[in-house]
Order: sequence, then structure tokens, then C-alpha cells
Amino acid sequence: MAVKLLCDTSAEWVEQAVEHFDQVLVDHAHCEKKAAAQALSLLSAFPGEPGLARAMARLAREEAGHLFQVLALLEKRGLCLGADGGDPYAQALQSQVRQPARERLLDRLLVSALIEARSEERLSLLAARLRDPALRDFYARLAQAEKGHGELFLELARKTAPQSCDSRLAELARIEAKLIRSLPVRPRIH
Ligand SMILES: [Fe+2]
Ligand SMILES: [Fe+2]
Repeated sequence: MAVKLLCDTSAEWVEQAVEHFDQVLVDHAHCEKKAAAQALSLLSAFPGEPGLARAMARLAREEAGHLFQVLALLEKRGLCLGADGGDPYAQALQSQVRQPARERLLDRLLVSALIEARSEERLSLLAARLRDPALRDFYARLAQAEKGHGELFLELARKTAPQSCDSRLAELARIEAKLIRSLPVRPRIH
């Protein structure tokens, strides 16, 4: 089951991202790094959750693979990873996570599902708009992978809280769309 986003990324973002692609690439590397770290963090926080540890171990491996590929692209272009500039979008979504353990697990899974879905959307836009055919292929492949991750998080969320998953997802999706509309447009993945 795919995660449905409630607003589209603006054309302005696409223009900026294509024009300042080097900046997007650096940010993209940091996003893959954080995705791998988040997967391991979920595994650490909920070690007793059936099936979660293995799913997160596999995901961390895949995201680290993406990171490795993006780092290779950076190197090829003579770019350096540099310091992580932070991600106000992901931070704002993560601030919505409730504290009690069950709610916390559900919210973390749903926030991850939304971030993956937004990443999929934007990587697909890059795949459609970049000029270099190798980069287009690369982003099309990565977008497909992020789509799978969004579905995985949603599936895990449904298993965790079959009763409340859909209504909580609807709430968080509204917040996500509001963030996308209100945060400044920058040449970054989010
Ligand atoms: Fe990834
Ligand atoms: Fe991902």
C-alpha cells in the first residue's frame, strides 16, 4: 500500500534543484546517511518488536548502499560531503512523535513513511528533469527504492496499530503537506 501525500512539490523546487544540483547532491548524501541511522535507531529503540529488527537491519544496509553511491558521485564531481546542514523538514515532523511507547513506535514509523514518500516524489522529479542520462537512471532507481521503503514503513505501522494507523497517518500527512508549503524552497532533497 503506497503512502499518499497531500500536496505536490512546487515547480520552483524543481527549477532550483536542477540549477543547483551539486548542493542537492551533498544534501542527498546526508539524507541517505540519516535514513540508515534512523533504521538502526528504530532497531535499538524497539528490540522486542516482532520482525522490526530484521527489517531495519536490511533497510540500514540498503540506505548505506545509497549513501555509498551518492558519495561516489560527489567524489566524481570533485565535491566533498562537508558538515550536515540539518533538516528542518524532518525535524519538524519528528517533533510530532508522541512519547508513550506504543504511540511512539507508530508515529516514528509513520513519519518515516512520509519522509520516504516525499523523497520518492522528489527523486522522481530529478529523474525526469536532470539532463545527464546516467543521473536520470540513477534517480529513477533510487526513487523506486524509496517507494518500497515508504510501503515497508506503512506496513509495519499497520501491524503495530491496526486500529489507529490510518487516522494518525491522515493527521501526520496534513502536517507534512503544511510543512512542504510553508518551509522555504531550497536546493535540497527536503
Ligand atoms: Fe535511500
Ligand atoms: Fe529510504
